[in-house]
Amino acid sequence: MNNTGHTVLVIGAGTMGRNLAINLRNGGASPVMFDISASALMEAKEQTGIRGCEDIAKASATLTIPRIALVMVPAGRETDNAINSLLNVFSKGDVIIDGGNADYRETVRRNTQVNSSGINFLGCGISGGAQGALDGVSVMVGGDRCAYNLTRGLLEAIAAKAKKKPCCAWVGHGGAGHFVKIVHNAIEYASMQIIAEAYLILRQSVGLQPKVIAAHMSSWLSDASTSSFLLEITVEILGKTDKITDSPLIDLIVDHAMENGTARWAVEAAIELGYPTPSFSSALQARQISVADTERSHHRKLFQGSAASRATIDLMPSQVRCAVAGATLAAYTQGFGLINAASKANGWNTNLSDVAKIWGNGCIIRHALLDHIVDGFMGEREMKTLISIPVISSIFRESLLGWRRTTSMALLSEVPVPTMASGLTWFDALSTLRCGAELIQAQRDKFGHHGFKRIDQPGCWHIE
Ligand code: 6PG
Repeated sequence: MNNTGHTVLVIGAGTMGRNLAINLRNGGASPVMFDISASALMEAKEQTGIRGCEDIAKASATLTIPRIALVMVPAGRETDNAINSLLNVFSKGDVIIDGGNADYRETVRRNTQVNSSGINFLGCGISGGAQGALDGVSVMVGGDRCAYNLTRGLLEAIAAKAKKKPCCAWVGHGGAGHFVKIVHNAIEYASMQIIAEAYLILRQSVGLQPKVIAAHMSSWLSDASTSSFLLEITVEILGKTDKITDSPLIDLIVDHAMENGTARWAVEAAIELGYPTPSFSSALQARQISVADTERSHHRKLFQGSAASRATIDLMPSQVRCAVAGATLAAYTQGFGLINAASKANGWNTNLSDVAKIWGNGCIIRHALLDHIVDGFMGEREMKTLISIPVISSIFRESLLGWRRTTSMALLSEVPVPTMASGLTWFDALSTLRCGAELIQAQRDKFGHHGFKRIDQPGCWHIE
């Protein structure tokens, strides 16, 4: 369908909803906004000049057929409420797009519920934050293919472009779109954590000031292995001086990292699928540790002065850059692997090259290497891991020595680096001949008679 002139109902007049409405209008569509909060709707109307309607039935009556609604409200009950009100006013053949973050299991349930009225449903992961919503987002579409074909023009119109192609694609039926989005967010968490660890090492172990760290990190932006949107904003943040105190802004921010659940859903899904993603769990749990105030202050008092004295650190910023490159690639590798595992389990047939294409621009985890990843996964019948794509392999290999040194030095100097360290041990366990599980099996057999396999004989063995 051509999007030009098509009316679209945008539910939710928060920052994302109103910016996407502007983006839709710029792309030639004709948006109308609705929000259960009359004041939010009024403010959005005044700010954007876009039509708003306080009555969802009246708004729906003005829409072109098939009616299309883009739901941009917080995950959970508010999404269900918005969908239920749309079900009262939409008819067979219309399309509801949930563009907010959602637990993909909820998306599967909503899909069935909406489809039972003959209405189409798409669970769409949309990434890009407030600015991306205005300029172009990354769109991960899941659900019925025909519903995608009906809305494709609109979704491609709000998408960012990479190599002149829209960062938007259909990634599978049911909950596939939101699954890809929660994995995007888990990679987002890991990438942010890795950069935060690099900052902490350079600050606490090497003793550099924020502006000097910003200058080093800025130089990493010209290297494809570390050039990313998240590093770009980090350079800006670390260069910022607080106007009130004239000290580095970063020093005035409470070190509690919050979370809204999306990466947690990815970690839960990985555990359910039996697919290891230690970079994701470590990054998520690092946020949880950061807010564990009571334990943190208790342990700080209890162990102060009793820990080993700080080692003399001999570490180059270029080695820290290697750690960022390697640990980030470990996270992307786990992410693509997790999507592949879920795709197999759910019969989604997700094209990993398309996923890399969607993430090429607009989204929070855009990274210079995604171009190579698009090519590396293209036409692949049998899934290979991301770090076995030749060009990625060599970058990964080159990062290893600096990554190991950085992680070791951080541990010696008592700087917590959970995601750098877990990425490294994930890789070592996956690439070693013997990973120690032989002893676990022997222990299981000893206390629980669980049996073990031998390397030289067939069958299951038990030794008294
Ligand atoms: C995006 C982001 C976005 C997410 C925020 C906050 O792709 O635009 O992933 O969807 O909500 O990044 O996430 P947390 O509050 O969990 O950090």
